[in-house]
Amino acid sequence: MNTDILRGRRLGNLNAESVKYTASTVFDTILVNPVIEINKAHMVMLVSQGIVKKSQGAKCLEGLGNLKIGDELDPILEDVHMNVESQLTKIVGTNIGGQLNLGKSRNDQVSTAIRMALRTYLLKIITNLIEFRLIILEKAEDHLETIMPGYTHLKNAQPVSFAHYLLAYVEIFKRDKKRFFNNIVNLDECPLGVAALAGTSYNIDRNFTSRKLGFKKPTLNSIDTVSDRDFVLDFLSSAAICATHISRLAEDLIIWNSDIFNLINFNDRILTGSSIMPQKKNPDPAELIRGRAGKNFGNLQAMLTTMKGLPLSYYKDMQEDKNLVFDSYDVLKESILIANELIKNLNSNKQRMLYLANKGYTTATDFADYLVQKKNLSFREAYKISGKIVDYAEKNNKKLDELSMNEIKKVKKDLNKDVMKVFSVKNSVNLKTSHGGTSIKNIKTVLSKLKKEFK
Ligand code: ARG
Repeated sequence: MNTDILRGRRLGNLNAESVKYTASTVFDTILVNPVIEINKAHMVMLVSQGIVKKSQGAKCLEGLGNLKIGDELDPILEDVHMNVESQLTKIVGTNIGGQLNLGKSRNDQVSTAIRMALRTYLLKIITNLIEFRLIILEKAEDHLETIMPGYTHLKNAQPVSFAHYLLAYVEIFKRDKKRFFNNIVNLDECPLGVAALAGTSYNIDRNFTSRKLGFKKPTLNSIDTVSDRDFVLDFLSSAAICATHISRLAEDLIIWNSDIFNLINFNDRILTGSSIMPQKKNPDPAELIRGRAGKNFGNLQAMLTTMKGLPLSYYKDMQEDKNLVFDSYDVLKESILIANELIKNLNSNKQRMLYLANKGYTTATDFADYLVQKKNLSFREAYKISGKIVDYAEKNNKKLDELSMNEIKKVKKDLNKDVMKVFSVKNSVNLKTSHGGTSIKNIKTVLSKLKKEFK
């Protein structure tokens, strides 16, 4: 292969090991289309600025339209940019193909191409998250009145509606969606035309190419432009945060599906068996969501490490960005899709949820609140009295709603029968009417608001 195009007969041949080590062709296949678009836009601009002759430009554009670049890019040409130029030159000759890099370089091109590819990825992830939120919302609708123990420190805390738990994730993924959307906003400046690092002496029109490639405006500083990979860090960081959320969801579901908790179960179609224990039904997809999140964190860490020691301007270190972006995208996209399956195939064990919601004295706070509201005590006084009743119940091996009126009166004399209802978990849930609380009434309002969002 003739590499004059890059090495200009001045450099001798690169050895095979270095070719393999330095080329970005393996990852660049994803950039083929954006790079062709970039070259077309740039050529149209060169012609309309009178920098390249119309006839030359037309042949060049025709050639670019006819390029057949498959998945195989030649590593000896280092990357997609030189593969495109080389192929085009083969079709239209050096006179015309040789004009392709006029007024631009690979440094500005690659940053433009990654932004364009990333834009598409970000839109896909946003769409996936919208679909995921809808699936969670539908599951929540089925479980409005399903009462479960709410946990803090993995200890029974207060009863909540299972729908309320699920709707927490509708909020969480709304923030993720917004974060990814902000990534699109942040990358919306076009690097094309800053050339290697200093700009160019040709009278190019960067506003034109920026507009043509769908960016809001061209970048302002050529040195910053070829040095910048903030848009990569933004995406990797959003992906890492989103992966954290999916992993936390998976973790809850794994715990609740355990034999000890047994709050939920999954349909067989997402469970795996054991090669030795015939009885086993394991939630492997959930465990792998948790396991793969590490790749998203690792990719962010790798890119931060790559960037932190670089003096300004372009260094080949930055070429590592593509692998990390594409990998994080693939991992995250699959994890979101599998998380969809977890939610779709999840069944609640309602009896068990209700039973555990009432274990661990989960209505003790409601009793304290009752004493404040009905007996005019300070919260701290009420808290102590409620603590005493928990002590009594614990010693006598009873749940709070199993105590008799006489037993309750041992702790505070002037109570009447209507205190008994505060120990009901259902009542407890319905008392939480404050904004954002778990009462069924609140959840119904939230559900109908959210459903409008999806219409
Ligand atoms: N393939 C490189 C990358 O992906 C772009 C080429 C820049 N190369 C250079 N020698 N300036 O970052």
